[in-house]
Parts: sequence; structure tokens; C-alpha cells
Amino acid sequence: MKVVVISGGASPEHQVSLASGRGIVKAAELSGHSVVPLQLDPRGDWQDGNHEAIGILQDADVVVPALHGEGGEDGVIQGFLEQLKIPYVGSGVAASAVGLDKHLTKAVLTAHGIPVTPGITVRGEDLKDTESVVQRLKAAGIEFPVFVKPGNGGSSFGVARATDLPSLAAALAVAAGLDPQVLVEQEIQGREIDLAVMEFPDGRVDVAPALEIHADPEQPFFNAAAKYDSGATRFVVPAPLSSALAGRLRSTAIEVFAALGCSGLARVDFFVPADGVPLVNEINTFPGFTPASQFPRMWAAAGMSYAEVVDNLLQTAAA
Ligand code: DAL
Ligand code: MG
Repeated sequence: MKVVVISGGASPEHQVSLASGRGIVKAAELSGHSVVPLQLDPRGDWQDGNHEAIGILQDADVVVPALHGEGGEDGVIQGFLEQLKIPYVGSGVAASAVGLDKHLTKAVLTAHGIPVTPGITVRGEDLKDTESVVQRLKAAGIEFPVFVKPGNGGSSFGVARATDLPSLAAALAVAAGLDPQVLVEQEIQGREIDLAVMEFPDGRVDVAPALEIHADPEQPFFNAAAKYDSGATRFVVPAPLSSALAGRLRSTAIEVFAALGCSGLARVDFFVPADGVPLVNEINTFPGFTPASQFPRMWAAAGMSYAEVVDNLLQTAAA
């Protein structure tokens, strides 16, 4: 197939996307596809100009939007590819848009009865009124410590843990600098477990063995430094789970994929507190995709190589 892999983009995850794109290009070539890499620069403009980019895209059998975050994982590029009538890997416009928006994800999953991390959304002028945020947290039964996150985003950029009023005010200011909508969520004590959901060309949706994250103990949580700069973060796959918990995580991941209307692939990230009821922390409709990333590592545990996973995504998008 003629494959175009798009990477880069205007989100803070630009470099992460370049790394995902490089892995996918190499793997698709290994499987015998003819591959053209196409980059969006840090302003979100096509590196080779609009005219040339559209020409390259229109010549493709399948496009891989290997983009993370705003402008790429949020339905924008997906809508552009829909308009050009080019098949692409992964979720469509609506699932991508809802999946990147942590507030909307919570709303949709809650409506489906799927347990999520308790949290509130803070917007506009309220972001400066830390006292009122604390009142709202109390009313929602949420206590310090909390996590403060930009409403849209990934790789934990702009995410901070707050333990009191001053640290909450500081965290709100940081997150608000990245997004006008900020989530404040209950810190969950428990295990951090990821599930990889993938669609196959016959329409079957399957889940790989779960992965458990042991974040660098020197970091306050599984933050960007623990994700990308640490030698001390460990992924355990398959995660040691009782068969009841493994089954519950698996069925919930598939429910999340269906509830949001996802296609192709998604990584669903869970917290499992002591009571054993998994809470969905978030979904990534185009998860990190270097050979060392969680999604391909989970499929490796299911016996699929990185190149086989990439080829499956291409075949599914083209089917
Ligand atoms: N947003 C990053 C790339 C991830 O989910 O892995
Ligand atoms: Mg994410």
C-alpha cells in the first residue's frame, strides 16, 4: 500500500509524535509498504506547504495520523482527511474529539455507567478563585491531594499534584496556561494499569494483556519526566492480575472503546484502588507509538511484533 505517516504538530507533544512517526515509518517499510513521511511543524503548518501536502495525501491508500494532542488527536486532522476522502488509521472525528477532551470523556463514560476518576471541571474566571474550587471539590466529595490537568492534552504536560490551597492555586495557573478548561481530580491510591484495544480487518475488537506502570519513585507521579526521561520507570507486562480483575479491565476497556465510538486503536488507562473496582483515568485515541511505548509492548505480549501491529492498523483502515 501507499502509506503516508503524519507526525509532529502544534501540540506540546510534537517531539513525542515525531518519535512515534519514525517507528511507524520504519515498520510499514519493513512490511513492504511504500511510505512517505509528512510533517506538521510546531506551528501546525505542513512542513512542505499546503499544496504539496494535499497532493501527497491524495496519492495515499492509507494515512497514519501519528499525532498526539491538540490539532492531531482531537478530530481536526481526521476531519481534514474525511474531507479529502482518504482512509486513515484510528478513530474518526467525534471519538477523537471526545477522547482528547478529559471533561467530555468523563461525561460520556459516566452516562454509560463506566466508573471514572472523580473530578470537576473549572473554566474561565473560576480558575482564579481557588477558594470556590475548594468548595466545589468538597461538594463533590473530593479531598486533597488532587491532580490538576489541562482539559485537553497528553504526556502529562501541565499536570501537577496539589496538596493544599497554595499548591492548588499554582497548579490551576499552570494548567490554565495550556487550556481554558482545567480538570481537578481526586488522587487515587492504587495500581496504574493500561489496556491496549485494537480493531482487526474483520471488525473484531480485541484487547492485549494489561500493562502495569511502576513510575520512577523519584518522581511525584507518572509525569512527563517519568514517561520520557527516566531509566527508573518500569512497565510490567503482562501485569500480574487475578483473572477476575483481568476480565473486568478487559471488558471495561472494550466498553470504553464502544461508548466513545472509537475505531482502529486506543489505549485505555486505569487506576485500580484497593477496592478492586477499576476507574478509567483517560483514553488515548492515538497513544504513544515508539517501539518502547505501552501500546506496542502490550501487543508484543499477545505475540504480535511492532511491525505486525502497524500492518494490522493499516489493513484495518483500508478494509
Ligand atoms: N499522549 C501520549 C503520547 C500517550 O498517551 O502515550
Ligand atoms: Mg493521554
